[in-house]
Amino acid sequence: MLNIRFEKTTTPKPIPGAENPLTFGTIFTDHMFVMDYATGKGWHDARIVPYAPISLDPSAMVFHYGQEMFEGLKAYKTEDGKTLLFRPDKNIERANNTNKRICIPEISESDFLDAIKAIVKEEEAWIPTKPGTSLYIRPFIIATDPYLGVRPSDTYQLIIILSPVGAYYKEGLDPVKIWIEDEYVRAVKGGLGEAKTGANYVASLASQVKAHKEGYSQVLWLDGVHRKYIEEVGAMNIFFKINGTIITPMLNGSILPGVTRNSAIQLCKHWGLPVEERQVSVEELIDAAKTGALEEVFGTGTAAVISPVGELRFEDDIMKISDGGIGEISQKLYDTITGIQLGKIKDEFGWTVEVN
Ligand code: COI
Repeated sequence: MLNIRFEKTTTPKPIPGAENPLTFGTIFTDHMFVMDYATGKGWHDARIVPYAPISLDPSAMVFHYGQEMFEGLKAYKTEDGKTLLFRPDKNIERANNTNKRICIPEISESDFLDAIKAIVKEEEAWIPTKPGTSLYIRPFIIATDPYLGVRPSDTYQLIIILSPVGAYYKEGLDPVKIWIEDEYVRAVKGGLGEAKTGANYVASLASQVKAHKEGYSQVLWLDGVHRKYIEEVGAMNIFFKINGTIITPMLNGSILPGVTRNSAIQLCKHWGLPVEERQVSVEELIDAAKTGALEEVFGTGTAAVISPVGELRFEDDIMKISDGGIGEISQKLYDTITGIQLGKIKDEFGWTVEVN
């Protein structure tokens, strides 16, 4: 059991009531979890302290070379008052894979889970209960050595902050419009694409700005070598239903292994649907859209949950999907995943973990 010291806030903030519509990532709870790392000492000094700005040396390595990782998972309150996490083991496993890739020292899986449970328990009252809301958990690690040379840091800080959230996209469950990017790329095999690190997200901003100007909410990335195969959206993985088969790009080293992606694949297989993880070219999508075989498109992500896609644009080709409505599989996946997360549907897969 991780030994955690507590320092309670003396200035608690008002918890947003059900009358306030929640957006994504703008409100933070009263406390945060912090733990330090130093070479020779390991991870130490686990603590829950008042949520507050942190003080770092301006030369801290995270500011200069971006040695940082993050994760995202959610906590839910069931109707009978239980607090549930959704597949935290998958996030912790992925966190340590990211750590290995960017030379951050790994954290014991059980300590990581203890830390998440402890801060969620402390802030349980902040878990919203309105449909479509949850408590978003954002663990992140930053390199803190004050040094301007390029090398892995010797000191780090793990911080876990919590935010009561609503839908990630302003569209909610309404279909989003997505721009298939032909100028920039997000990642290449051997690079950072399968790691959850800020570098992948900053790489996406110029395209996102361009897409927004054209009226699209997000960018769908093509592979960085052939500029031809579909990868992911950045804030979510992507799925297509073509002629009755559920297809998603296979994990190839440059795509983030999403927890919701994995859950959607397992559920579709469980329902007896044909599922293929394989390369999907943009030409295949354009052709399928022309013949009417592209029946559904949706994204999967922790923040986005299931996000139906109503339109894809690649250069001058505009593909309208599901008549602009919510596809049948998207709706079923959304209902089932949120049902399991909220304890309303039997968790046959052992995905939920109770915080008590
Ligand atoms: C998540 O879905 O949790 C993510 O980390 C994506 C982020 C862009 C919000």
